[in-house]
Amino acid sequence: MNETLEQAQRRKTEHLRIALRDPSVQRPGRDNGLSTLDLEMLSLPELDLDAVDTRCHLLGKALNAPLLVGAMTGGTAHAGEVNRILAEAAERTGVGFCLGSQRPMLIGDPTATRSFQLREVAPTTLICGNIGAIQLRDRLDGLRLAHLGREVGADAMYVHVNALQEAIQPEGDRDWRGVFDAIAESASDCELPVLVKEVGAGLGEQTLRALALTGVAGVEVAGVGGTSWARIEALRHAVRTPRAIAGAVLAGFGTPTAESVQLARRAFPGRIVIASGGIRDGLEAAKCIALGADAVALAYPFLQAAQSHGDRNEAVRAVITEIEGVIETLRITMFLVGAPTLSHLGNTPLVARP
Ligand SMILES: Cc1cc2nc3c(=O)[nH]c(=O)nc-3n(C[C@H](O)[C@H](O)[C@H](O)COP(=O)(O)O)c2cc1C
Repeated sequence: MNETLEQAQRRKTEHLRIALRDPSVQRPGRDNGLSTLDLEMLSLPELDLDAVDTRCHLLGKALNAPLLVGAMTGGTAHAGEVNRILAEAAERTGVGFCLGSQRPMLIGDPTATRSFQLREVAPTTLICGNIGAIQLRDRLDGLRLAHLGREVGADAMYVHVNALQEAIQPEGDRDWRGVFDAIAESASDCELPVLVKEVGAGLGEQTLRALALTGVAGVEVAGVGGTSWARIEALRHAVRTPRAIAGAVLAGFGTPTAESVQLARRAFPGRIVIASGGIRDGLEAAKCIALGADAVALAYPFLQAAQSHGDRNEAVRAVITEIEGVIETLRITMFLVGAPTLSHLGNTPLVARP
């Protein structure tokens, strides 16, 4: 569907408003699967906490911790300001940053494009671009996908798959034929690494097996248990409609984060697996790394922090505090489970505590 810039901007503004104001869009009747998994705490860790090393390399960039600010926004002047706050906080803490869907850039408006250009505030850190799988099929190929990434100085491109969200969205795309082939072709033709992500319904076993046959560099699972896009889209229907009813019922449909991470690790040995979907703290991040993830992404918590202050500098500081809180919790957890490095944490068994 070719839409106008105004339509795309209105949708993005509504998404931000509903995501922030309506708590019912979080953990919609289903947990992310991490609460019943535990790491065994050692009372005699035999480690120096200050020597615990959370650093890693991801997509060619050195990070202070295996953490990304998840894909959220861009396209309007306000969204650009939110992006600048988040990206500056990511740069100052040495974590990665993911842009929201760059679909507004395809319409060709310079303000929309500027809202995604963040290298001025984040010159060195990992930046991942983002486009929807439907836009990839309808309007791009591998070369144009790389161009979209280069225009914003991205190190890699995410393609998001959001069939459930689109099915509930009032103006959503309902025809998903040919999307897999478009991903497979552009993953082999794009000169930037291409990763596929869900948006909160998780990647299941059959999807992961199919994606593993392509040249994608990795996946971000965005599992069930965090922000629910079926729920957000259901709330955008002005009155009770059949699609809004479906959105409420299917709000927690899909694969929970903990399960999706394990399936992804099995399907993608040697490739990148990023855990996301309702991860809210450094303990959950540590559990995901123990389950096989290379890194974790949190979206909603950092958006909340970015929007918590009217003053820009205070907003940046608030996001930095949240990011550092996740890293510090991860570091202390690693210390307490006897894992001096992330690869040790990756080999630490989890205990099921139903
Ligand atoms: C306000 C908001 C906007 C989002 N926009 C996008 C987007 O444009 N592209 C995308 O791939 N994911 C988008 N997401 C999904 C997140 O990247 C993430 O996969 C999902 O929210 C689950 O993570 P969370 O539970 O930590 O929020 C958005 C999430 C939020 C909260």
